[in-house]
Amino acid sequence: MFKTPKKPVILAIESSCDETAAAVLTVDSINNFPKAVTLSSVVRSQIKLHSNMGGVVPEVAARAHVKNILPVVSKALSAAGCPLEKIDYIAVTAGPGLIPSLIVGVEFAKAMSLASGKPVIPVNHLEGHLYSPFGRLSASESKKMFPMVSLIVSGGHTILVLMQNEKKYRVLGQTVDDAAGEAFDKVAKLLGLPYPGGPEVGRLAQSSRRPADFPRPMLKSKDYNFSFAGLKTAVLYFLRDHPQAESSDICAGFQQAVVDVLATKTMRAAKEFGAKSVSLSGGVSANVALRKTLQKLCKISRLGFFAPPTGLTTDNAEMIGLAAAFLLHKSYKPKHYAGVKADPNLQLK
Ligand code: KG4
Ligand code: ZN
Repeated sequence: MFKTPKKPVILAIESSCDETAAAVLTVDSINNFPKAVTLSSVVRSQIKLHSNMGGVVPEVAARAHVKNILPVVSKALSAAGCPLEKIDYIAVTAGPGLIPSLIVGVEFAKAMSLASGKPVIPVNHLEGHLYSPFGRLSASESKKMFPMVSLIVSGGHTILVLMQNEKKYRVLGQTVDDAAGEAFDKVAKLLGLPYPGGPEVGRLAQSSRRPADFPRPMLKSKDYNFSFAGLKTAVLYFLRDHPQAESSDICAGFQQAVVDVLATKTMRAAKEFGAKSVSLSGGVSANVALRKTLQKLCKISRLGFFAPPTGLTTDNAEMIGLAAAFLLHKSYKPKHYAGVKADPNLQLK
């Protein structure tokens, strides 16, 4: 029987899309709240590989994961000064994501578990994003932030979550079609910008003098769902009708529409559920306009605002280790490798 260590050391592995990542964390508990210390974090991005093809090609991504995973994990262990014997748990992203990518990380983690006898903690990638702002918080800060409304905005998901406390949460709404990041990437493609388009659109928007006017989809709907596919089509028609329009004005107008919808619905949820704070995570949380808008609205409403530091916004393994720490805090029992399997459609429950 595996004995639960007091200050567990976690090796975390992430390979759900186009980043191969590994991290080593130790987890302490301060005032009964997990406090993780990151000993190492290594991310090998495949952006260069996919930018020539205008997006992630699953087969190409999986092959790159196979090539990168051993050096990345080995580098994370050595940078942490932590041999495999000192690891207590192997956390790995089990889903959601691209199945050819996911299985590389999952099967690698299982092989490590078989060889070392360390149990596995399968982690939901979305919980990784959800807990990513918690890494640098003090226990006293953490206790005061619930209930919290959390907005997860990534390339594959746009989800609004109500966290009653660090253990309990429920989904309030999500996108009914494209994710926010996906819409950024598609608009960038329409404008001939390189992949991934989100950061490019954000950068170009800053130099706009006359932002184009685009619709705010589902802004007034009573639920907490989102829709961004129609907005992308509106950009397509705008480009057809205004071929001379400045790309910066299109980027700024599109970004403003996305930010308006995301921020308005997040703040409405915060008010309805009496939230004490708002958190923002996922790749799109790197967007300056979105961050600044939510930060400002939270200040006006006297709510706390939390977002992951740069480096923890897009996919990484540190956030997977952090989510594993919170699973342990919820008394989750780590698994024997035989019971672990990748699930591309894993949901937030
Ligand atoms: O969380 P993430 O790394 O991967 C998924 O789990 O999907 O998010 C990637 C997404 C991409 O769509 C990318 O374009 C977007 O995050 N993104 C941004 C910015 N940085 C990354 N979108 C808007 N503004 C940014 N600065
Ligand atoms: Zn992600």
